[in-house]
Amino acid sequence: MSDHVLIFDTTLRDGEQSPGATMTHDEKLEIAEMLDDMGVDIIEAGFPIASEGDFAAVSEIAKRSKDATICGLSRANFKDIDRCWEAVKHAQSPRIHTFIGTSPLHRAIPNLTMDEMAERIHDCVTHARNLCDNVQWSSMDATRTEWEFLKRTVDIAIRAGATTINIPDTVGYTEPAESADLIRRLIAEVDGADTVVFSTHCHNDLGMATANSLAAIKGGARQIECTINGLGERAGNTALEEVVMALKVRQDVMPYDTRIDTTRIMNISRRVATVSGFNVQFNKAIVGKNAFAHESGIHQDGMLKNRETFEVMRPEDVGLAGTSLPLGKHSGRAALRAKLAELGYDLGDNELADFFVRFKDLADRKKEVFDDDLIALVQTNEAAEDHLKLVALRVVCGTGGPAEAVLSLSVDGAETTVTETGDGPVDAAFRAVRAIWPNAARLELYQVHAVTEGTDAQATVSVRLSEDGRSATGSSADTDTVVASVRAYVNALNRLIVRRAKTGPNADVKEIRYTDSGS
Ligand code: KIV
Ligand code: ZN
Repeated sequence: MSDHVLIFDTTLRDGEQSPGATMTHDEKLEIAEMLDDMGVDIIEAGFPIASEGDFAAVSEIAKRSKDATICGLSRANFKDIDRCWEAVKHAQSPRIHTFIGTSPLHRAIPNLTMDEMAERIHDCVTHARNLCDNVQWSSMDATRTEWEFLKRTVDIAIRAGATTINIPDTVGYTEPAESADLIRRLIAEVDGADTVVFSTHCHNDLGMATANSLAAIKGGARQIECTINGLGERAGNTALEEVVMALKVRQDVMPYDTRIDTTRIMNISRRVATVSGFNVQFNKAIVGKNAFAHESGIHQDGMLKNRETFEVMRPEDVGLAGTSLPLGKHSGRAALRAKLAELGYDLGDNELADFFVRFKDLADRKKEVFDDDLIALVQTNEAAEDHLKLVALRVVCGTGGPAEAVLSLSVDGAETTVTETGDGPVDAAFRAVRAIWPNAARLELYQVHAVTEGTDAQATVSVRLSEDGRSATGSSADTDTVVASVRAYVNALNRLIVRRAKTGPNADVKEIRYTDSGS
């Protein structure tokens, strides 16, 4: 068996479908290109039948793909599979991924007997295989499927021509020894198992997704499905950066290799955090802000003598530049370009010219511009397709009366100004947004973080909104917390508009995803 592990990234499908993590079309293309460039073997670019937007994104990603195989998801019915093929067929290496829930709970939803489901699997994999040479079959909720029936589904899929067999732990229920054992037994007991690649797809409900994925590799799986930052429904999916770095660092006990250029990890992690609106927790393994920070005296002393005392990998291995001097208002364009390149951002001339103006504006307000300030600034670019844009904001607040916000907002190019009062500056400003663009979205989360230290630090604000079962998260950064808050709110509304267009008036993609797998 080969020692090579394929990395299958599903940030743009399982990750993007998680509540609040909506990405725009352009953002999806950008992330797909970054995944391709970092050496991801298979990119699951979306779920083409889910909406016109998903179909367009998967098709475009397929057309632009370089080395990666481009995969689309489809339920086990001919209509989904055909739509998926229409989108992925443009790739130099396309893959159709089709699935059905095989556990008793999931079989009950389409109300299929085991025999009916077995027939459906045969028909769908055969149909997919007639369209595409590269077909992945998933027995959803495999880890809660009866052993004999799971074996039967895998056997049928292989006979029908599947080239990859995915064994999902859909609800994050398994544990490492069981995960390894399940794959090992399937490989040992199913005829033709040696002709396909076995894959693992773990969710993190019990915090074991990474451990379960690595254990599955020890059991014989050679594909790991994962997402950047572990983005995904509920507690998320296996984090790409964790499995890849674990394989790299622990070659002594896991002698497997991947194609991933690990020095690109930090950059894509930050980008996915921004476009999904899901901030990375400070103590997240590999990509958290504190993952390489050493604060206690003992640790700092040890690090100065020998960094291996408290670090099992080098920050440079994941693309973290060593600390360097901050920029300031006298820094020129060349210094800015060099610093951005060091941080992994390669801006074109026009982009750099625009960014330089924003940098100068920040440097005028803030004495020292640190790496984290620049990253926050790079990541708060407004998307070209935004419907709502902040034009101007003045706020009066303090003791002795309600806060008052005067806000100018442009809605599809038409500018409106209103004055609203509220219980504090953020409340007044958010009321003003609603006065200009009435909406029933519920504010589910409002979170503020200081990017660096000091009272002139930029604030990063995240806002999550929900409406009719859809949700979207927006984020922004500014030295003025109220400005950052309004930008984040407007950003979340723009994403909700995208989500609305994608799912129709009341539909939720999640519903499309797990129910009605019928043909
Ligand atoms: O979690 C899961 O089972 C899935 C399947 C569609 C592969 O995401
Ligand atoms: Zn999943």
